[in-house]
Amino acid sequence: MSLALPAHPRAPEVTGADIVLTGDRPTGPLHLGHYAGSLANRLRLQRLCRQFVLIADLQALTDNADDPGRVARNVMEVALDYLAIGLDPARSAIVLQSAVPEMAELTMLYLNLVTVARLERNPTVRDEIRQRGFARDLPAGFLCYPVSQAADITAVAATLVPVGADQAPMLEQTVEIVRALNRLAGATVLPEPRILLSTTPRLPGLDGQGKASKSAGNAIDLRDDADTVRTKIRRMCTDPGHLRVEDPGQVEGNVVFAYLDAFDPEPAAVAELKRRYRAGGLPDMAVKRRLEEVLQALLVPIRQRRAAFARDPGEVRAILRRGTEAAREQAARTLEAVRGVFGLVRP
Ligand code: TRP
Repeated sequence: MSLALPAHPRAPEVTGADIVLTGDRPTGPLHLGHYAGSLANRLRLQRLCRQFVLIADLQALTDNADDPGRVARNVMEVALDYLAIGLDPARSAIVLQSAVPEMAELTMLYLNLVTVARLERNPTVRDEIRQRGFARDLPAGFLCYPVSQAADITAVAATLVPVGADQAPMLEQTVEIVRALNRLAGATVLPEPRILLSTTPRLPGLDGQGKASKSAGNAIDLRDDADTVRTKIRRMCTDPGHLRVEDPGQVEGNVVFAYLDAFDPEPAAVAELKRRYRAGGLPDMAVKRRLEEVLQALLVPIRQRRAAFARDPGEVRAILRRGTEAAREQAARTLEAVRGVFGLVRP
């Protein structure tokens, strides 16, 4: 079976001159939701322009400081996931955030351009504060992470940031910071980054409860072995009203079909399965068998590359070191420019 990447925004506005930056918090293994939502898109973008992919360990610490081991353990796992899906270190620099001190220094400077009131208005941060039940115990670093994200983006002079809708407020705040700095300088010191909004629908959790997420444990991880994938597909929710094979089944809201829509390289075959399912007479197991075929075909090469890199941790560290170095080179230039705007001199 030939593999197609899931449908993605065509984004004709991407040019070879663009610099892309995206990132993930290393708090757990990456899963198929990440793949459909952003990783597949990064594979496409790395062919079109320069790309930086950030392992945002400092950002992860802003709400995991009670369990720093969780973040530390997942840095290498996320790096392996990146390499496993086929990110090419020659085209996509893999960057460890905490090893780029310029980003931290930029954050410190940008904090002067942002008010607490503005930070408290950020809708994504507001949601996250509510979900985590923070009150006066809200870590200050957590409230400020959109500023550190502005530092990530501007450090490498990124012009394009591909993210999901939940990250749009971060981009808005970044653009505000860039404008405030340029106004202060009376010149265009930093480029205004554009957002490349993902149009892929969120992949549902295996249980049909909300989206696939590492915290809910309802996802198929990229590193899952073949048996685990099979078991997870067997347990996947279908149409709860489809009690007998001969009953008509419902496709909308059916998790198995949502995954087929996201990953099956043959939409015509999916359409035919849907038709037969709706008509009645097609067992859930038949649809799940198709899904298993599709997902194993996608995951086999990912698993193989992951295993090869996992045998060579020295090489993975060297890739991280080189990617981080590449980011630092640009970040040093950005930092000098921003320090200049604030009139800071080196004694
Ligand atoms: N906040 C992003 C997330 O939770 C991760 C991230 C950190 C990021 N720095 C970034 C995304 C810069 C885009 C650009 O997924």
